[in-house]
Amino acid sequence: MATQRQYGFGIIGCGTISGVHISAIEQIPGATLVAVCDVDEERAKQTAAEHDADWHTECDELLARDDIDVVNILTWSGHHHIAGVAAAKAGKHVICTKPIDITLEAIDALIAACDENNVKLAATHQLRSFDAYRRIKDAVDEGRLGDLLYGNAFVPWYRSQEYYDDNWHGTRRWDGGALMNQSIHWIDVLLWIMGPVASLCGYVDTAAHRMEVEDIGTAALKFANSAHGLIQGTTLTYEGMPTRIEVHGTKGNVIATADGITLWNVEGEEVVVADVPATSTGAADPRSGLEHAVGAHVVQITDVLRAIEEDRPPMIDGPEARKAVEVILAMYRAGETGQPVTLPLEA
Ligand SMILES: NC(=O)c1ccc[n+]([C@@H]2O[C@H](COP(=O)([O-])OP(=O)(O)OC[C@H]3O[C@@H](n4cnc5c(N)ncnc54)[C@H](O)[C@@H]3O)[C@@H](O)[C@H]2O)c1
Repeated sequence: MATQRQYGFGIIGCGTISGVHISAIEQIPGATLVAVCDVDEERAKQTAAEHDADWHTECDELLARDDIDVVNILTWSGHHHIAGVAAAKAGKHVICTKPIDITLEAIDALIAACDENNVKLAATHQLRSFDAYRRIKDAVDEGRLGDLLYGNAFVPWYRSQEYYDDNWHGTRRWDGGALMNQSIHWIDVLLWIMGPVASLCGYVDTAAHRMEVEDIGTAALKFANSAHGLIQGTTLTYEGMPTRIEVHGTKGNVIATADGITLWNVEGEEVVVADVPATSTGAADPRSGLEHAVGAHVVQITDVLRAIEEDRPPMIDGPEARKAVEVILAMYRAGETGQPVTLPLEA
């Protein structure tokens, strides 16, 4: 896409996911990486040197620059609204990695700040731009699966105790656990395909790690369209196993395993049955497979530039990204109270 002008990008948070965002920015003709920021000076310096950009250790310094139009917020999840509100007040468009933040109060403050300052707010949920999920979404939207009957998301992943022994993973303040950090990708896809959840019940536990929050969560869902659903997300499954999304309608059954179609059995269409992979990238190693996410980030970051030029919401804006967080918070509440939870939650 040719943009009307060149957009300067700033990165806040130079950790694991920053390489994906920077690679995507470098592939977008209308985008230029201008500066990066990290409280860890060595990380900021090294990332800047690798990508011929300026570096800062204070967000405010980066946000004060008038050569930056868009800021990608890649810090700890519970910090996204802090950097995001500051960016909006500085007149920068905001792109947050997932989750957009981890409480409804924080997300609503971020949405309000972006609205008040007339800047775009987008979240990257790269799975929505993966081929398999686009195909399922299109088939459902076109009615090819008939009426939806049930839809499930399973994320049987593994993370080590060492992963949770750092200063933010598995904390209530900055991260959340297997649902809020890892499973959110597939929960987002499930809601995008099946529609909103009306109510759920479930269990959330810390069963196999020393950490403040969940390493397993299980929920039974009733969608607003009356379909049933299941979510199970873990970071305790031995060696980690492939993720699975299942969608069942009156005219077909579709399954994606490890983000690829492994069953396509839809009325009047060619049946596809593919081998189920033994694992999925990221199932046990948080750094593996991220290179596969770059193309989808190119699509979603390019969409934000289009949204700026066409003055429309980005494809995954604040309210859209809020949905998966709300369902996860409803699972937390169901786990704490042992009671069914009705959505929407009050903020
Ligand atoms: N889309 C994906 O597939 C994906 C993958 C991994 C992580 N993430 C998300 O990206 C975010 C970061 O995760 P990560 O794995 O890259 O973490 P990380 O720990 O590797 O990196 C986070 C970086 O943020 C920096 N930071 C923290 N507070 C800061 C502040 N106030 N100002 C500037 N820098 C600050 C830290 O020093 C660190 O370098 C999380 O929200 C996570 O959920 C998304």
